[in-house]
Amino acid sequence: MKKIFFSFVFGTLAVLSVCTVLALSGELKAIQLLKPQVDRGRPLMQALKDRSSSRSFSSEKLPLQVLSNLLWAASGVNRPETGKRTAPSAMNRQEIDIYVATADGLYLYNAKDHILKPVLGEDIRAITGRQGYVKEAPLNLIYVADFSRMGEAAKEEKEFYSAADTGFIGQNVYLFCASEDLATVVRGSIDRKALAKAMKLRPDQRIILAQSVGYPKRIAMGKGSR
Ligand SMILES: Cc1cc2nc3c(=O)[nH]c(=O)nc-3n(C[C@H](O)[C@H](O)[C@H](O)COP(=O)(O)O)c2cc1C
Repeated sequence: MKKIFFSFVFGTLAVLSVCTVLALSGELKAIQLLKPQVDRGRPLMQALKDRSSSRSFSSEKLPLQVLSNLLWAASGVNRPETGKRTAPSAMNRQEIDIYVATADGLYLYNAKDHILKPVLGEDIRAITGRQGYVKEAPLNLIYVADFSRMGEAAKEEKEFYSAADTGFIGQNVYLFCASEDLATVVRGSIDRKALAKAMKLRPDQRIILAQSVGYPKRIAMGKGSR
C-alpha cells in the first residue's frame, strides 16, 4: 500500500514537472512590434557626442514602444517599396539576423513584418557573453550571419562582409541608445560554440557579435552610471 502511495506521489510530481517545463517553453508567443516613432530622439550630432559603451544595466524591461523603435533603428525596413533596411548590407544580402534574448526567452526579429518570432522559451542571457553583466541586461541582441543567404561567395568573403554588415547594425543600436539614454555595449567575447548550441543554430549560421541593451543602473542620488 505504502509502495503504491509513493509511486503515485512521485509519478504525479514527475508529470507535473514535465508539464511545467513544457508550459514554460511553450508559452513564448510572437510579439507584434509597434510602428517606429521616427519623429523622436535627440538630433544625430548629439547622439554622436553621447555614444559610448556602458556595462552596468538595470534589470528594468524596455517598454514595447522602445523595443520596437530600437529594432527598427537596428535594421528595420525603412523603404517598404524595396524592402531595404536602416543598415546597409553587402550586395543587399541582408544576411544578418538579430536574435533577441530576454528573461522570457529567445526571439528572432523579422524586419519585414516588424515582429519578434518566438525561438526558445528559455532565458539564455547568461550565455550570450563571458561577462557577468550580460545576465543583468534586459536585452541581449545576438547578431547571426546566415551564410546560406550569401550565394556562392568564398568563405573569407562571407566572413568579411558579414562582420562589416554587423558593424553597421551595432552602430545604429549605439546611436539609438545614445539618443534615448539607454546603456549599451557591443560584444565579441562570447563562447560561440555554447551559444550556437543553446540557440540551436545550423552549421551555416555564424554568431558574429552580441550587444547588451538596457536602462543604465542607477547609482547613489539617482544619477545614471554613464
Ligand atoms: C568588435 C568589438 C568587440 C567588442 N567586444 C567587447 C566585449 O566582448 N566586451 C566588452 O565589454 N566590450 C566590448 N567592446 C566594446 C569596446 O571595449 C569599446 O567600444 C571600447 O572600449 C571603446 O569604448 P567606447 O565604445 O565607449 O568608445 C567591443 C567593441 C567592438 C567594436
